[in-house]
Amino acid sequence: MLKATFLGHSCVMATDGKYKIIIDPFLTDNPVAGMKADNVEVDYILVTHGHGDHLGDAVPIAKRNDATIIAPNELAIYVANQGAKAHNMHIGGAFNFPFGKVKLTIAHHGSGAGDGLIYTGNPCGFIVNMGGKTLYHAGDTALFYDMKLIGEMNSIDIAFLPIGDNFTMGIDDGVRAVEFLKPKKVVPMHYKTWPVIDTDPDEFADKLKGSDTEVVIIKPGESVDV
Ligand code: NI
Ligand code: MN
Repeated sequence: MLKATFLGHSCVMATDGKYKIIIDPFLTDNPVAGMKADNVEVDYILVTHGHGDHLGDAVPIAKRNDATIIAPNELAIYVANQGAKAHNMHIGGAFNFPFGKVKLTIAHHGSGAGDGLIYTGNPCGFIVNMGGKTLYHAGDTALFYDMKLIGEMNSIDIAFLPIGDNFTMGIDDGVRAVEFLKPKKVVPMHYKTWPVIDTDPDEFADKLKGSDTEVVIIKPGESVDV
């Protein structure tokens, strides 16, 4: 089993009943956060890129929980330099962790920490096999045609895709991404956090009516059984 909890913006917590992971734990400065960073109890923290709205509270959460941060190499070095335990990976690579397998995918975006001026390598997305299910978290990205390959090589049970436009895919590109990935469920994310990404998830759902993918629109703090 796998239970995924949306915590606002791009933050997702997942548990198989034994292990808990969190992806892109941006909570303290997140106007729509579904949880306080101080209350997060996890075994691993996955971070797609160095931007503040994704790296967020990763380092303090890692230190308090004695948890390991899984990230692209340069970002892993950055968090390790701040005293966090880190597992360095890179795009195309997979590794078997106690909770399951993680593979890093490409993401077309930037990656910099500290107001974006400290280089933290390439951004990524994550394919997580956990609790017998497959979760894809796209991170921040443009639409890319290799999503078709990701969909062909993985039977995705749930995909978290950005639809807020401006910095990432918007509605129409997100719809196209779903057509490529063919996930059983899709949860839109990275919208409405700020006025500049104020897109309508209902429009996204409307445009996917009749597809084989179930659109799950959940509020921060709400969960979905994958
Ligand atoms: Ni970003
Ligand atoms: Mn972002």
